Amino acid sequence: MKTMPDATEIAPGIHWVGALDPALREFDIILRTANGTTYNSYCVRGEHGVAVIDTVKASHADEFFARLEQVARYDEITTIVLNHLEPDHSGALPELMRRAPQAKLYISAKAQLMLKALVQTDTLAFEVVQTGDAVDLGGRTLRFYSTPFLHWPDTQCTLAAEDGILFSGDAFGCHFCDARLFNDRVGDFRFSFEYYYQHIMRPFREHVLEALDLLAPLPLRVIAPAHGPVLRDAPQSYMQRYRQLAAPLLPNEIGAGTRSLLVFYISSYGNTARMAQAVAEGAESEAGVRVSLYDLQSSAGLPFVDLIEEADALAIGSPTINGDAVKPVWDLLSSLAVIKVCDKLGAAFGSYGWSGEAINMIEDRLRGLKLRVPIKGVRARLIPTEEELARCRDLGKQLAQHLTGNLERRVISMSELLAQESSHA
Ligand code: FEO
Repeated sequence: MKTMPDATEIAPGIHWVGALDPALREFDIILRTANGTTYNSYCVRGEHGVAVIDTVKASHADEFFARLEQVARYDEITTIVLNHLEPDHSGALPELMRRAPQAKLYISAKAQLMLKALVQTDTLAFEVVQTGDAVDLGGRTLRFYSTPFLHWPDTQCTLAAEDGILFSGDAFGCHFCDARLFNDRVGDFRFSFEYYYQHIMRPFREHVLEALDLLAPLPLRVIAPAHGPVLRDAPQSYMQRYRQLAAPLLPNEIGAGTRSLLVFYISSYGNTARMAQAVAEGAESEAGVRVSLYDLQSSAGLPFVDLIEEADALAIGSPTINGDAVKPVWDLLSSLAVIKVCDKLGAAFGSYGWSGEAINMIEDRLRGLKLRVPIKGVRARLIPTEEELARCRDLGKQLAQHLTGNLERRVISMSELLAQESSHA
């Protein structure tokens, strides 16, 4: 009784030769995989050469080699393309190159930096390719398209030009294991497709849009990703879905020229809430900035990540309790890993009883996430005084002016920070 599917024909002379991993329940530690995943590899036969596009995770190499041997001899392989060097695709590369030493490896410029580190050898010969480069297999041409950050900096797509088959790497993929392979035959994988986009592609949505501009004009008949179903039914619809998911929405709501500042706070006795209100008032006095104020109390499950993804700046207020900011604040900050936040502006403020560490801790975390923190935060002991509320209004005003460009960009020196710190202690 056969337990594994054979190499599967996608077009005459083009086969899926990947591996199935139905038992996998977590990918890269952070992604849940409800029914496993596939590591897709493809074999493309030309009149005078055979290409292998991507390999598989090392643990599944035997399965991959067994399928590859069904459709090609190792001495026929002239070309190996790695669209992406993450180990789930490069794991079987060293062994493939040992079995097919005559083959030439094609990778992107960024991939060469990772190649040695990942395969632990510096003896692999390779050629760097970029958009516009091609390899002629004889009657079949492989064209390369640079698509960085889908999902690592090294990523590229490879088109079998005459067939209109795009080997897209992680892009348009998903962790969904179904041996029926084609999107018109497998089970309902919409959840997996969306989940994969949200966790793998979403932080790089600007790169997704650039890649779509590059790839959408191609006359595609099939998208063959590195994970999950091969998309032969309505492949363009998956590109359209990526465009919907990656497109910014906020400019349609507040106007393209308006900047967005979100003020989040949580407050035990209303003191940090008063400071938040003052920050918002100060920011609202600057024309061209839309200010939104949110209480993090009972905020679990609210779509703040979606709002932050589209905002230009965040101000976060927290009391200090037991020398720390409070959990809802850390929950909010730890939820930002799935979006791009670098280059947004950040600020912190809050009331405290006797130590007030939360403000510095929040600022450090914002900087760690690569937000720019242009203004030192405001701390107030217990009930904020009128002077402290005025400083909160000034914080909001300055933050807004940084957004509108009415305040010159500056870098605060460490000595300046320490001077401010001691004057407000
Ligand atoms: Fe499927 Fe980013 O590796």
